[in-house]
Amino acid sequence: MNPQLTRGLCYVVASIFFVLGLKMLSSPRTARRGNVVSAIGMLIAILTTLTAIAGVKWGWLIAGAALGSVIGALAARLVKMTSMPQMVGLFNGFGGLASLLVGWSEYHWNWAGSAQGSPFITVAILLTVLIGGVTFTGSLIAYGKLSGAIQGKPILYKGQNLVNAGILLAIVTLAIVFYIADVRRLPAEPGALVYTLLMGAIVLAFALGVLSTIPIGGADMPVVICLLNSYSGLAACAAGFVVNNSVLIVSGSLVGASGLILTSIMCRAMNRSLANVLFSGFGAAVTQASQYQGQAKPVNVEDAYLILEAAQSIVFVPGYGMAVAQAQHAVRELGSLLEENGAEVRYCIHPVAGRMPGHMNVLLAEANVPYELLVEPQDVNPTAEMVEVAVVIGANDVVNPAAREDENSPLWGMPIIDVDRARTCIVLKRSLNPGFAGVDNPLFFKDNTRMLFGDAKASIGALVSEFKS
Ligand code: TAP
Repeated sequence: MNPQLTRGLCYVVASIFFVLGLKMLSSPRTARRGNVVSAIGMLIAILTTLTAIAGVKWGWLIAGAALGSVIGALAARLVKMTSMPQMVGLFNGFGGLASLLVGWSEYHWNWAGSAQGSPFITVAILLTVLIGGVTFTGSLIAYGKLSGAIQGKPILYKGQNLVNAGILLAIVTLAIVFYIADVRRLPAEPGALVYTLLMGAIVLAFALGVLSTIPIGGADMPVVICLLNSYSGLAACAAGFVVNNSVLIVSGSLVGASGLILTSIMCRAMNRSLANVLFSGFGAAVTQASQYQGQAKPVNVEDAYLILEAAQSIVFVPGYGMAVAQAQHAVRELGSLLEENGAEVRYCIHPVAGRMPGHMNVLLAEANVPYELLVEPQDVNPTAEMVEVAVVIGANDVVNPAAREDENSPLWGMPIIDVDRARTCIVLKRSLNPGFAGVDNPLFFKDNTRMLFGDAKASIGALVSEFKS
């Protein structure tokens, strides 16, 4: 068979694997298989591409692939579940950098000196290096904010949006001048004007990635990571046009589109627009003394056990604190004991609970909580009064009733899980401190709320012991 036709067919097969893998990722039940299917698709794509290149330096390729595989495997094995969001952010950034390097090297080695020009390829090179550059540095900042290496609060200064708009304008201007010079095939070796224009635009793209991410607060970083993920897909897609590789175009489009959809789901879950997330400096307000007054009512493990033991309908609401405490296995054990005790137990997951999309789903799936017990806020809220006990495990912002009750709260309008409307609400956390958004929570002072202070894993473990004894 014609080698080109065979390659085309292999690319189609790889693309089908990507689409099927992505579809499987939409349910926790099939997600693992989806990962494997996508990885097989990627292997087919890589092997097919390698057979197409004449004079492949196999030594370099094998060394690079081995090094990358070792780093990837170690990172995946060693990373703590709580550090997963920043790792995802970092990998996005490397995706952007890889596309940038593909675009730049294609320009540097094959395009700049060639006599033939193509406006289409010039635009594709520009898009690859510019989107890749913004993705790379933006992701590094997102990584820094989520890992705590950079302060989580938005870094704001006067005229910030103007500065960013100015840089964007400068990038567009350089890109247009570069485009005109490149399609006229002006001399483009390193040091020549055309080459310098491209490098200048790349440096400004790096700067824009940093400057447009620092004003966004740590609490909004998961949304930014989804958006940057989408950018990394778009950069890969543009790189696919540069090197004329159809499977890169397909996979880049899939990542770009799914990242955008996820971004929009995250924004909707917080009832905020993307513009609000990107430009409002959410979380910058200086924390004042709590405006919600009242006496929080602590409960000890024995009393919490008695409340739970008598309940027939229980909803667990996990949040970031469950991930920090690694309490998911203990939660699952407590859930099973409660079920054995005759109670109906559900696990209600807010879409933005934790620090990345699906954070709580992953943890509870790891602890083998049956998927059919995982429910969403809209499944619980309409009948919240019927819930006998809501057990909040290290969640805070996603159960803050100020979102419903206080028009002045920064969380006003954010859809929450209405645990305050349950007959009794037990909140497991270590203190009355606010959550990631830095907003005080009136839930702690409600008449029907009991605070079980302490590390969530220790508290749940103690409840399990009470049940067993
Ligand atoms: P948070 O509001 O951050 O609250 C987590 C709580 O866990 C803290 O108040 C903390 O209280 C408690 N905690 C920490 N370690 C603990 C431990 N070892 N044991 C028990 N409790 C512990 O979490 P959330 O409710 O999951 O909200 C997520 C936040 O991320 C929101 O601000 C949301 O807007 C933002 N966000 C998330 C996403 C995604 S995709 N996940 C997207 C956009 C924004 P103590 O210190 O008192 O223990």
